[in-house]
Amino acid sequence: MAEQSAALSPLLKQATPVLAARGEGVYIYDEDDRRYLDFTAGIGVTSTGHCHPRVVEAAQRQVATLVHGQYTTVMHRPLLQLTERLGSVLPEGIDRLFYVNSGSEAVEAALRLARQATGRQNAIVFQGGFHGRTMAAASLTTSGTKIRAGIGPLMPGVVVSPFPYAYRLGMSEDEAAAFALRELDYQLATVSYPQDTAAIFVEPVLGEGGYVPAPPAFLRGLRERADKHGILLVADEVQTGFGRTGRFWGHDHAAIRPDIVITAKGLASGFPLSAIAAPNSIMEKAWPGSQGGTYGGNAVSCAAALATMDVIEDEGLVANAERMGERLKNGLARVAADHPEIGDVRGLGLMVGNEFTASDGSPDTETATRAHKAAAEKGLLLLTCGPHGNVVRMIPPLIVTADQVDEAVSLWSQAVKEATA
Ligand SMILES: Cc1ncc(COP(=O)(O)O)c(C=O)c1O
Repeated sequence: MAEQSAALSPLLKQATPVLAARGEGVYIYDEDDRRYLDFTAGIGVTSTGHCHPRVVEAAQRQVATLVHGQYTTVMHRPLLQLTERLGSVLPEGIDRLFYVNSGSEAVEAALRLARQATGRQNAIVFQGGFHGRTMAAASLTTSGTKIRAGIGPLMPGVVVSPFPYAYRLGMSEDEAAAFALRELDYQLATVSYPQDTAAIFVEPVLGEGGYVPAPPAFLRGLRERADKHGILLVADEVQTGFGRTGRFWGHDHAAIRPDIVITAKGLASGFPLSAIAAPNSIMEKAWPGSQGGTYGGNAVSCAAALATMDVIEDEGLVANAERMGERLKNGLARVAADHPEIGDVRGLGLMVGNEFTASDGSPDTETATRAHKAAAEKGLLLLTCGPHGNVVRMIPPLIVTADQVDEAVSLWSQAVKEATA
């Protein structure tokens, strides 16, 4: 055999230069043991922090007991326990679950379910939304053309309607919500006949698209339209769920009940696990054999998810996300007040974005990139988002403390000063 050493695909780029050796709580350590404040949480995944002792203990115990009890072959206790337990946090009546591994797979499962349950084909999504990279999920995604470019033809039957992105539209939140609902009605009247429309997919906070919270009036308007036309309202809570926004679910801020909830990321503190939840009346309409997979509901992931739920409850992490989120947003707003390059600071709970805008109102990607890089050099790991990469987002784990938030704000302030000098 020829001697060959392989390398990673050149397309896989890292947002930071860090080679992570270990993680502990809010911190990541590189191979030289340099400590970084991790305000990325693995893109909102390590909800209980890196290697929370209770999650580690539960996973270690499960690894030594049963790793893979393939769920269409045998059933296992961690999956049953997790299912029961999720019932206590899901909206009333949303009590049937199906598990897969990633957010994209769960989005695909939700789309299959919505089409089969309604007998309709179309899906309405909102501009700037991110629902994943697999083909159907990518077809629902408009957070940036890089997800869609060169891979067509995409799945037909997707209608894109404006998201109430108040800052970009130059409107108040109320005006933006009213505008987006009017445009949705226009789509239903001109493009997607309601009786052809299976589902409306919405992120309660636009994630990859720029960290833009959906105004509650908008989500309530979606609920009204879904009820009126028999369309299923699908809350993509992949990033916003599990306490991230300071409520257990992002849609809780609008006090609405979706028909299908999609969850992933923070659910298992870093172990691959995702799920869709729906009432039995919807789930039973899916066709036999349409739900399954080799790895779904992995026993170790389920054990980690159960421990994650214990930690979230026992440590009051949803309330912490709300409190720390306010503290973070206020600190970032103070930084923005000294730097006109940051045109908007927004978010819900521990999902906060800083949008960089040039003096002519255009997206200021260059300054955002410089600030993001300078922050990493100073020991603060962050991510960018938004179609132009001009939003620097902060998503620390839900265990973050006031001191850590203050430290991050101080590092951010230095980074922005450097980037705008
Ligand atoms: C709202 C939302 N939906 C779906 C996905 C896709 O999840 P995954 O990357 O696990 O496939 C993401 C990932 O960032 C997301 O934020």
